Amino acid sequence: MKIIIINGPNLNLLGKREPEVYGATGFEEYFSQLQMKYKDIQLAYFQSNIEGELIDKIQEAGFSYDGIILNAAAYTHTSVGLGDAVKAVTTPVVEVHISNTFNREDFRHVSYISAGAKGVILGFGLQSYELALQSFL
Ligand code: DQA
Repeated sequence: MKIIIINGPNLNLLGKREPEVYGATGFEEYFSQLQMKYKDIQLAYFQSNIEGELIDKIQEAGFSYDGIILNAAAYTHTSVGLGDAVKAVTTPVVEVHISNTFNREDFRHVSYISAGAKGVILGFGLQSYELALQSFL
């Protein structure tokens, strides 16, 4: 089984960025732990701060992978293009967020991703990614 985690803007700063909201662990470290735990799954990881690169990656993976785990970060709340990309591909996409976006600012209550996603997991910290992974198993 081939699963890719796609992370959007500023998630390269996990561990350093607002640790009270996003925790103290960097994503590479967390990703290594996931790879060790789920050895039978071909896990890939991609991060970009650039909207078009995220769209390119969804298109690239979206007809051959078994699942996409997408944290579009701030673009979740702004990007029609990313929402359309999620709808365009055949690979199921699970939307994840580290924080519970519904107990934060109003602008975080809107998602352009959710309508095209298979499901949404949010608010469980980095564990949100593992829960999304388990949803594909
Ligand atoms: C986030 C929530 C977004 O509102 C925010 O812009 C992020 C991270 C999360 O994982 O909690 O960058 O997607």
